[in-house]
Amino acid sequence: MAAEDSGRKGIEVEGLVREFKKGPRAVDGIDLQVAPGEIYGFLGPNGAGKSTTVLMLTTLLPPTAGTARVAGFDIVAEGSLVRTAIGAALQEAALDPLLTGREHMRLQTALHGIAKDERQRRSDELLDRVGLSQAADRKVGGYSGGMKRRLDLALALVHRPRILFLDEPTTGLDIQSRTALWEEVARLASDDGVTVFLTTQYLEEADTLADRVGIIDHGKIVAEGTPAALKAEIGRPTVEAVPRDPADRERMEGVLARFGEPAGASPKGVAVRLEGGESELAEVVRALDADDIAIEHLQLHAPSLDDVFLTKTGRSLEGAEEAEAEEEAEDAAAEASPA
Ligand SMILES: Nc1ncnc2c1ncn2[C@@H]1O[C@H](COP(=O)(O)OP(=O)(O)O)[C@@H](O)[C@H]1O
Ligand SMILES: [Mg+2]
Repeated sequence: MAAEDSGRKGIEVEGLVREFKKGPRAVDGIDLQVAPGEIYGFLGPNGAGKSTTVLMLTTLLPPTAGTARVAGFDIVAEGSLVRTAIGAALQEAALDPLLTGREHMRLQTALHGIAKDERQRRSDELLDRVGLSQAADRKVGGYSGGMKRRLDLALALVHRPRILFLDEPTTGLDIQSRTALWEEVARLASDDGVTVFLTTQYLEEADTLADRVGIIDHGKIVAEGTPAALKAEIGRPTVEAVPRDPADRERMEGVLARFGEPAGASPKGVAVRLEGGESELAEVVRALDADDIAIEHLQLHAPSLDDVFLTKTGRSLEGAEEAEAEEEAEDAAAEASPA
């Protein structure tokens, strides 16, 4: 029952700081709370302090200041109790390219003191769960990025942790692998009540998967809340219009400029961020009509977490999506290759 009870406690962080001797204040006084069974998305660009936070919460790095309790245990004074309650898939995952997936699972179950006659059942069950049954006897060196991340997840689940830490579990993965992992993580939270602390650079990942999101930048949390609340609070929608007559594009720009700052649009269109929100849409239409500009196409774009990030930090997070294309090809090749 003790394990159950600790599982009913989530994560509580107060004033957590980590300073590196020759580096920056990587984590600069963060407060956050994760409720039991919740998926918390820790969203931020490279170097924001996500991994440093995870290393502290998983007891692998001592904090410079502040406190945190994970599953009810103090990360400094009760490190070993924290470690029994949590599972972690970290960024520098130590997979051995020469071992198969099944061999990794066997080692991990032994490491966690799982009874001998249960090891195989537990391994098979988890390999199946993450969709690696077919590839279980292939060497990990031939796995795609997505398969490695799925194996990391299975390894982290061996001892049925109540709290799971995932550090950028889908970075560099193609969209199918990413979606498959999202489904598995969502299922862990909803079916098994696992509390998930997940870091990501992907807006869509935080938006789709997380119950609540903390946005971290330069070691500080700059915004926190449900994705819907964050977007409602800060992001303003944009409206994009395409004139029926391309010659009207410039006049259309002039009219739309009355409603807000310019925003990115398709080549034929004009877009602005609506200062007054969605309710101004009707006025936009009336104004264009009053100037005799016929509209081919009109679309309202809902605010995104990137609008939130932009508003809070003055920068956009979208650039983070670039590194993907090259790895997608690799992934596809590895998925397809025979045993
Ligand atoms: N061991 C270390 N020594 C010195 N600086 C570090 C060390 N680890 C991380 N940093 C620095 O701390 C900051 C936060 O890093 P990190 O937590 O890895 O960010 P993220 O995971 O969000 O990309 C970065 O500026 C990084 O260069
Ligand atoms: Mg990191």
